[in-house]
Amino acid sequence: MEIKTIMVVGAGQMGSGIAQMAAKSGYSVYLNDISRELVDKGLAGISASLDRMVKKEKISKDEKAGVLDRIQSAVTLDSAAQCDLIVEAAVEKMEVKAEIFKKLDQTTPAKAILASNTSSLPITAIAAHTGRPEKVIGMHFMNPVPVMNLVEIINGLATTPEVTEAVCKTAEAMGKTPVECRDVPGFVSNRVLMVMLNEALWELYEGVATAEGIDQIMKLGMNHPMGPLALADLIGLDTVLAILQILQEGYGDPKYRPCPLLKSYVNAGWLGKKSGKGIYNYYRS
Ligand SMILES: NC(=O)c1ccc[n+]([C@@H]2O[C@H](COP(=O)([O-])OP(=O)(O)OC[C@H]3O[C@@H](n4cnc5c(N)ncnc54)[C@H](O)[C@@H]3O)[C@@H](O)[C@H]2O)c1
Repeated sequence: MEIKTIMVVGAGQMGSGIAQMAAKSGYSVYLNDISRELVDKGLAGISASLDRMVKKEKISKDEKAGVLDRIQSAVTLDSAAQCDLIVEAAVEKMEVKAEIFKKLDQTTPAKAILASNTSSLPITAIAAHTGRPEKVIGMHFMNPVPVMNLVEIINGLATTPEVTEAVCKTAEAMGKTPVECRDVPGFVSNRVLMVMLNEALWELYEGVATAEGIDQIMKLGMNHPMGPLALADLIGLDTVLAILQILQEGYGDPKYRPCPLLKSYVNAGWLGKKSGKGIYNYYRS
């Protein structure tokens, strides 16, 4: 199973990061989203991220141009027909992912691997929307993709070892460390992390401390590089809420009950860094 060409579906913060790292590692990449504007926004984000690397002398201007040359825009999923691996990184909603996987199953060659960057949705359930569950796998990159080393690899019930091996090799080729786990809600990472982020939101809701205070305590006291509330903003509060709801449904355990403050913020459209406002303000004056 040789991977040469990759399509990334969803050009948001995760999809654009995955496309950037894949192209930087020499793969031919198609970047897809639901409109030309959103693909262009993703490409602009990649260009800005590469500019920062050039400035820090981590890559040359020529390397930057090479990365951008290897990424093609795709406003439909038709180009998936040319791909060996598709990494889906659209919004964290089962109905959206189900629709994408159904379409990918029809568009791609039978040998193509279909991976999802889902944070919490069951890979086995996503795979059931295709006629090739053995070629469906979770490839959970961390945010921000260019910086974070881990790729959590989630094997669905039917995923074959050959598919796991091919995907692990691709993650390694992208300079990442793949670590495997079973397909349970939230996998290893978010089952632990989301409880902490939610608890920090409950503390804010109850007025235990200010947002800055909660984050300072966790940074200085636990040696975390960023506080849980700043991290929730970075992940996206809509994504945090979606993951908590999936955990709550998946385990039927009230310990995952999302804090009402989180729901209010999402209802207000305060989604965190990506929308300019979340728990903190990111508007530039
Ligand atoms: N944000 C994180 O820290 C993080 C970390 C790991 C995994 N994830 C997962 O990655 C996925 C994407 O998250 P994100 O933070 O990049 O979200 P985002 O909101 O930044 O981007 C999502 C993108 O998906 C696009 N999209 C929606 N429907 C689509 C469709 N039918 N076809 C193609 N594109 C579509 C949207 O237009 C948007 O550009 C989610 O499943 C999320 O759970 C997120």
